[in-house]
Amino acid sequence: MLDTTSKIKGYCLITGASQGIGRAISYEWASRGVSIVAVAIDGASLKELKEEVESTYDVSCITLTKDLLNPDTPQEVFDWCMENNIDVQVLVNNVGLGSSGSFEDTSIAFDISLVKLNIFPMIQLTKLFLPVLKKFDKSYILNMSSLGSYRPIPYKALYTASKAFIYSFSKAISSELKEDSVQVSVSCPAGVYTNADTVRRIKVSGTIAKWTSLYADMVASSIVNGMLRGKDLIIPGKGAKLLKVLMMLMPENVNRWMVGRNMKRNRRAV
Ligand SMILES: NC(=O)c1ccc[n+]([C@@H]2O[C@H](COP(=O)([O-])OP(=O)(O)OC[C@H]3O[C@@H](n4cnc5c(N)ncnc54)[C@H](OP(=O)(O)O)[C@@H]3O)[C@@H](O)[C@H]2O)c1
Repeated sequence: MLDTTSKIKGYCLITGASQGIGRAISYEWASRGVSIVAVAIDGASLKELKEEVESTYDVSCITLTKDLLNPDTPQEVFDWCMENNIDVQVLVNNVGLGSSGSFEDTSIAFDISLVKLNIFPMIQLTKLFLPVLKKFDKSYILNMSSLGSYRPIPYKALYTASKAFIYSFSKAISSELKEDSVQVSVSCPAGVYTNADTVRRIKVSGTIAKWTSLYADMVASSIVNGMLRGKDLIIPGKGAKLLKVLMMLMPENVNRWMVGRNMKRNRRAV
């Protein structure tokens, strides 16, 4: 454990904390003595998270049952924290929706939800909590992107575009906020075994996907270590790091052709 965590007196607010990577990041911060504000929709999963965290670690875990697709939710979360004297020192913008399939096959309602959920809560929460984060000598923001942010991926068009937005936004504000001691990190994991759909997709995606994919607890540990070490980019796992280098060495159109062919084949298998 890095000694830095002893300096974290405020709370860690995590969106999409009831399942998957968000849940694992909640445990990871709690294991380092940081109290949690967990935001998600499913009250039963959040209750279970609270019970497990508070019975295992000497921290509190506050749960807020909220739909982040509602554009008023970030303001409500912020107001609730202000009214209850909850100072957020670590903000983890994790919530996100995945997709795979041909762009023309998804409904416009789904497409809009994906863009809304992947991008707007991050912008709103970051803007709202910045004055609070700047009160601390050192504070942290983590935005959840994906290895897919580096290259356009056919059959994941909107997903990778939304993750490229998160990557670019995070890197830019990381420079803007350097002098304010707000550490902004962006994480770009490859596949992570989380919900059933993602697990199924990883399993049919061939050797490279299996070789680079990790479990959520491994990703969470890498992310929290990276944040505390002041990294602006966190790619969990050696396999994913190597894959990123190979992707960047390959001409974009060749990479897109290869990945697109693979995605098309896998689509039939899912
Ligand atoms: N899994 C991967 O392979 C992978 C790889 C790279 C990046 N990522 C990114 O990592 C993040 C987490 O992915 P994951 O695989 O852990 O997802 P997950 O297992 O599906 O969990 C998503 C979390 O978000 C919550 N959520 C969903 N819609 C919500 C809404 N409208 N309002 C509030 N909370 C909502 C869910 O809980 P409720 O249902 O209770 O709301 C759940 O806690 C996403 O941004 C994803 O794009 C994932």
